[in-house]
Amino acid sequence: MSTRRPIVAANWKMNKTRPEAAEFLRAFLPMFGTSCASDVVIVPPFTSIPKASEFLQGHPLVGLGAQNMHPKANGAYTGEIGAPFLVELGVTHVVLGHSERRQYFGETDSFINEKVLATLAAGLTPILCIGETLDERDAGKLEAVCRTQLQGGLAGVAADQAAKVVIAYEPVWAIGTGRTASPAQAQEAHLFVRSVLAELLGPALAQQIRIQYGGSMKPDNAVELMAQPDVDGGLIGGASLQPDTFFAIVKAAADSVA
Ligand code: 13P
Repeated sequence: MSTRRPIVAANWKMNKTRPEAAEFLRAFLPMFGTSCASDVVIVPPFTSIPKASEFLQGHPLVGLGAQNMHPKANGAYTGEIGAPFLVELGVTHVVLGHSERRQYFGETDSFINEKVLATLAAGLTPILCIGETLDERDAGKLEAVCRTQLQGGLAGVAADQAAKVVIAYEPVWAIGTGRTASPAQAQEAHLFVRSVLAELLGPALAQQIRIQYGGSMKPDNAVELMAQPDVDGGLIGGASLQPDTFFAIVKAAADSVA
């Protein structure tokens, strides 16, 4: 059991129009009592953020996330969204460097690093995603890949901001495949990630930074994954689309520190 407060985020990816987002939140929010031992973040597609914001503005327990952000605040960047556009909607968290962004949109560690620094400068919490592909794992490169992504993504992060950063370890082979990392595999990778954080930022900050697991996390495997000492929550795709399955995962996270 760790003393870190878990954080569970619903990455809806390119799912849920405004009415669908409203329908989810109408069902999901009443599932909470007046407190929860885990942080919770809902991460809709950009166009559904204003609708989600109507439900979540000032909500004491549930944060609002974006799935990407441009490092510049504004300017000639057609199709992009910078921090001020998110802040004015009440966004609190931004998912950065997701493997789908790296794979389909060519995002590099240095570009992701610019975004991490821009979120922190804007008072937003970055959720920095890292993780190896199956080929990389089979070639024994898990550690090298995660180290490079952490070093690159966190370059220049000031010590007084680092504790705010959330890392999401998402092995690419587990995303959307139904093939979850075993609790032992997840713990081994998370422990390694924390050791790299200690090298980069010092052991005290490394102990404070939360590391989410992502990749086919479901209600039936969440309890065991959350029980691992270095797993501090989850970044959930498919199972976050239904209020009851997502709430079951939030409950697993909260119970893991109860
Ligand atoms: P799944 O939970 O659908 O595997 O997706 C994980 C993910 O990519 C969350 O960011």
